[in-house]
Amino acid sequence: MGDLRVVVSGGSAAGGVLELISEACRRGWTVDVTATKNALEFMDPSEVARASGRPIRTTYKFAADGTRISPPADAMIVAPATFNTINKLANGIADTYPLSSMADVIGRGVPTVLVPAVNEPLAARRPFRRSLDELRAEGVRVLFGPVDGWLPGSSAPFPWIKALDLVEDVFGLTRMDSRASMGA
Ligand SMILES: Cc1cc2nc3c(=O)[nH]c(=O)nc-3n(C[C@H](O)[C@H](O)[C@H](O)COP(=O)(O)O)c2cc1C
Repeated sequence: MGDLRVVVSGGSAAGGVLELISEACRRGWTVDVTATKNALEFMDPSEVARASGRPIRTTYKFAADGTRISPPADAMIVAPATFNTINKLANGIADTYPLSSMADVIGRGVPTVLVPAVNEPLAARRPFRRSLDELRAEGVRVLFGPVDGWLPGSSAPFPWIKALDLVEDVFGLTRMDSRASMGA
């Protein structure tokens, strides 16, 4: 399929990223995981690195495999996306490696799906709603709300596989567009 960047921030759903990694690898994606420092508290980094076959990136430091930054991404999933990460990302704040690399990937127009994990009080905040609008305006597919069946404070299982299905849809459409524009 291609290279899938998965960016995990510090919500309690973060440990479930293994489900996404294993299904994405099964479907033929190469997976590279970036995690915020807070996300590392919710997961076993060595288990995640073992599942993806690559080191987790959190800072600009060289990883154990001798690489410093993530390989180029063909698609990106940001999940779970915290209130903090969403608001910073939407407002162009890039003061950590995960934020800076997400800013770059979105700026390149790479198909991106973002799955907020926020409770109802946080979802009611105007800065949060504005941030989602900004990200959508930049072409980010935000998986959130009644139509998507993923609501603030939901006790439903985190929609890892739906995020993967959606990013594959956007990725497929982008590839079809580029083939059409090449006259293929
Ligand atoms: C146990 C626990 C669970 C949390 N779950 C969430 C969450 O689901 N969503 C959220 O926005 N913040 C959550 N937080 C708060 C974030 O971890 C905190 O805002 C942090 O600064 C996020 O940093 P990051 O966006 O760089 O990962 C949680 C905190 C704790 C201690």
